Amino acid sequence: MSNSEPTRKEYLEYVEQLTEYDRAYYNDSAPKISDVEYDQLLKRLSVIEKNNPEWIVDYSPTRRVGYKPLAGFKKVERDIPMLSLDNTYDQDELKAFFERVSKGLDGETSSYVVEPKIDGLGVELEYKGGVFTRGSTRGDGRVGEDVTQNLKTVKGVPLKLREEIDVVIRGEVFMTKENFRVVNNKREEKGEEPFKNPRNLASGTLKLLDPRTVAERPLHVTLYDVVAGDRKAPSHFDLLKLVKSWGLPVSKHNTKAEKWQEVWREVEEWETKKNSLPFEVDGLVIKIDDFSQRKRLGFTSKFPRWAIAFKFPADKVTTLIKAVEVNVGRTGAVTPIAILEPVELSGTTVARASMHNWDQVEKMSLSKGDRVVVHKAGEIIPQVLEVTVGSGAKPFERPKTCPSCDSLLEQEVGKVVLQCMNTTMCPAQLVQSIEFFAGRKQMNIDGLGEKSVIQLVESGHVKSLSDLFLLNIETLLTLERFGQLSAENLVSAIERSKKEASFDRVLTSLGIRHVGGVAAKALADNFLNFDGIFNLVEKETKEAAVETIVYIDGIGDVIAESVVSYFSDKGHALLIRRLQKHGLDPTQVIDLAEKDGAFSGKVFVLTGKLSAPREKIAKEIEALGGKVTKSVSKSTDYLVAGEKTGKNKTEAAAKHGVKVVDENALRELMSQS
Ligand code: IVH
Repeated sequence: MSNSEPTRKEYLEYVEQLTEYDRAYYNDSAPKISDVEYDQLLKRLSVIEKNNPEWIVDYSPTRRVGYKPLAGFKKVERDIPMLSLDNTYDQDELKAFFERVSKGLDGETSSYVVEPKIDGLGVELEYKGGVFTRGSTRGDGRVGEDVTQNLKTVKGVPLKLREEIDVVIRGEVFMTKENFRVVNNKREEKGEEPFKNPRNLASGTLKLLDPRTVAERPLHVTLYDVVAGDRKAPSHFDLLKLVKSWGLPVSKHNTKAEKWQEVWREVEEWETKKNSLPFEVDGLVIKIDDFSQRKRLGFTSKFPRWAIAFKFPADKVTTLIKAVEVNVGRTGAVTPIAILEPVELSGTTVARASMHNWDQVEKMSLSKGDRVVVHKAGEIIPQVLEVTVGSGAKPFERPKTCPSCDSLLEQEVGKVVLQCMNTTMCPAQLVQSIEFFAGRKQMNIDGLGEKSVIQLVESGHVKSLSDLFLLNIETLLTLERFGQLSAENLVSAIERSKKEASFDRVLTSLGIRHVGGVAAKALADNFLNFDGIFNLVEKETKEAAVETIVYIDGIGDVIAESVVSYFSDKGHALLIRRLQKHGLDPTQVIDLAEKDGAFSGKVFVLTGKLSAPREKIAKEIEALGGKVTKSVSKSTDYLVAGEKTGKNKTEAAAKHGVKVVDENALRELMSQS
C-alpha cells in the first residue's frame, strides 16, 4: 500500500489483505508475514479508519475488540436444533453401530469421516453475503445465547469469507492446553479459583460479558457441520473442503475412511495420537460421508443415526495419599500439595498433585492413607479428583501459621488463597525471591542455584535481597557448598549484575506482583529510576498515584495498584534504599535514536490541565521524535505545565534545572520543527 492518501477501494483491499493474513496465521498455522509487519499494517489500517471513519466496515480486523461490556446476552432461537451425539466408550458398541448402519442401508457399504472430538463448546456461526453476522452458543440446543461480540474476538473466526455467500455453520470453540495453563497460573497468582479443565475455561470465557477480557484469553475454533447455506456438495468430506476454501477453519486431522474396517484402524491410531495434540480431544466423531445415505438413516428423537462419538476413556488411576505438604510460594501464597504413592499416569510417574487451595482439601476431608482418583487436568497437571476409600484418619487441616516463618496466615475475604504476609522476612519466600531475583531474565546472577540459596538463608548470611551485595569470598568460604573458585565466581557475578542490569530488569527482579518484563519496561521508561517512583508514591495520595501510573501505555489498574502498594510498603522501601546504598541504582537508558525529528533526544513531562488529553499531546511529541515520561528527573528537558500544576513537579524541575514551559510555548516549539 502506498503512503499517499488511500482511496476507499484501496482501504477495502487492505482489509481483505489483513483478513487473509489472519487466516494464514490462525487457521493454517502458516504465517505469511512477520508479527512486526502485521502490527505495522494493522496500525496503518487504524490510522486510515481514524481519518475516514465513514469508510469503516464491520468486518475490518480492527473491529474485533473494543466493544463495551454487555448487560446480558440475547436469546437465539433455532429452526434446526443443535443435536448431540450418541456416544460409546466400547469397541463392541461401535461395531453394533456399524451393523445398525449397514442394516439401515439394506447392506450397502458406506464411507465415513473420522473427526477428532475436541473438548470445547458447540457454537453456531452465521454469515450473510460472506460477512459474519451472528454467533451463538449451543444452549439447550434449540435456544442459545447471542455471543457475537465475544466470537468476533476469536481470531480464527473470519469476519468475512472469501466468497459472498450465506451460510450457517457449527463447530467447537476451545482453548489449547498451553493457554489453559497460562490463564490458570495467572489466576492462581491473583488468588482466584483456577478453572478445572480447558473446556470449562473456554465456556466460561465465551460467556463473559466483557469482550475485552475474552480477547485476552485466546480461544480457537474449528467447524464441522454446515446446517444451511447457498452451496451444496454430495458428501460431508467434500463440503468440508468447500468450507475450508471459503476461509473457515476446519480440522486438519479429519480423515476419510472407505469402510468401517478403516475406521477401526483410525481409532487405534488415535490411541497414541490423542495426547500429542496441543488441545484436548476426548474422543472421535465417526460420521457417514454420503448425504443421501444420511437422509435414509435419519434421526432418533435425540441423535442422528448416521454418526456416533467414540469417547476415549479418561486417563485416571487410583493411588494412596501419603501426606499433604504445605508449600510457600514466592509471593507468600501457602498452598497444599498432595504427596502420593508414586503411580504411572498417561506416560509419566506421578508422585505429587496440586490441590490448588485448602477449601479443596477440606471439602474432600482428605486424610493420610485415603485411596484417591488422580487425573491430569489439560492432560498435564496431576490433580486429585475424589476419595474412593477413606482411611478414617484425622483429615488434614489448613495451617494457621506459616511453616517457614511461623507468622499467622491470612486469607482475604472472597479469595481462596491463604497468604503469609511476612513478605520481606519469611525464609521460604526469601529463598524463592532470591532464586527469582538471580534468574536469567532478571539479574542474571550465575551460581545461585536452589541449594546454595537455601544455605545462604539458613546460615543467616542473607536475611534480605540486599544482603546479597554484602557477600564476600571469606563469608562464602565458611559455607559447605563453596570453594575458592565458586566463591570468587559468585562474588564477581553479583558485582557484574549490579553494573549490567537495566532499571527495567531490576524492577522485574523484585517480583512485584503482576509486574513482568513488559510492564517493568513500561514503568522503567517512564520513571527512569527508583527515585522517580518514590517521588510519585510518597508525595501523592494512593489514588492519585494509581491514576498517574495507569496512564502509562500498557499498564492497567491491577498492575498500577500493585506497584503503588509495593512502593508504599515500609519494608519494601527499606529494601530498595539498601539496594541503592549498595550501588544497585540504575537509571533507564531510553533509546531515542530510533526516531528522527525536531524533538529527537528530548524528554518531556506533561502536567496540569492541558487543552487536550495528555495522551494526545504525548503522541504529538512522540511523532516528532520526543519522549514523554511521568516524573521530572535530571534527564528531563521540558516540564510542560498546564493550569493547576502541582508544586511538587515545579520544585523538582527547579532542583534538576529543567525548563518549565506552558502549552503555548510547546506549540511554538512544535511549529518551529
Ligand atoms: S457433530 C448432529 N463433530 O460434541 C451432529 N460434534 O455430543 C452434531 N463435537 O455437541 C455434532 N467435535 O459440541 C460434531 N467433529 C465434531 C465434534 C463435535 C466436538 C461436540 C459438539 C457436540 C458434541 C456431541
